Amino acid sequence: MSRKRVAVLISGRGSNMAALIEAAKDRNYPAEIALVLSNKAHAAGLDIARAAGIATAVVDHTPFGKDRAGFDAAVQAALVERRIELVCLAGFMRLLTPGFVGQWRERMLNIHPSLLPAFKGLDTHKRALAAGAKIHGATVHFVVAELDSGPIIAQGAVAVHADDTEETLAARVLAVEHRLYPLALKLVAEGRVRIVDGHCLIDGVPVPDGATLVPGAPA
Ligand code: GRF
Repeated sequence: MSRKRVAVLISGRGSNMAALIEAAKDRNYPAEIALVLSNKAHAAGLDIARAAGIATAVVDHTPFGKDRAGFDAAVQAALVERRIELVCLAGFMRLLTPGFVGQWRERMLNIHPSLLPAFKGLDTHKRALAAGAKIHGATVHFVVAELDSGPIIAQGAVAVHADDTEETLAARVLAVEHRLYPLALKLVAEGRVRIVDGHCLIDGVPVPDGATLVPGAPA
């Protein structure tokens, strides 16, 4: 089976992007990172992608002002040019129009730093601590028009420690993200994820072994 051509969309640091690039170095991984696209010209992740020899593109959102559809059309053109088959949002800080999202239905993934549906939106670690959550984590889901709301593909959990700060909790979750995203993309690229009644089934079941990471579980 040929490897799926993936674009990773970023806005900043790009550590999840780097994890996907690392996973895709393995020739047996079912996806290749064919493009890294940023809406910010100085995103640190772009340097990591270039150093890894991966094609990069910048579509700056600022000249588009309120014209979100115009920005999305420019992103779409870059994806089409590179014959992209799957899109991974990885810290991409732009809201996408329903039209664009519809074009990538069941072919666009996002990683969110909480156990969805808890803590949609920003400042998830701060809010998890404020809520007294005992377990926190990360989610990879398909993107739908509504923010952080699409069918859940895989989740990874971490314990919240009594002395956690926003920073220590974020670091523990990020380490899980870096294992979770390559796993979720692999499942999708292998065609093992099917959506039934709005929920993902993997190999026909809701939670197969290995698709959920729990605290202390081996990588
Ligand atoms: C991650 O925490 C991700 O879950 C969220 O934004 C952050 C991006 O970090 N969507 P990085 O750019 O991948 O390092």
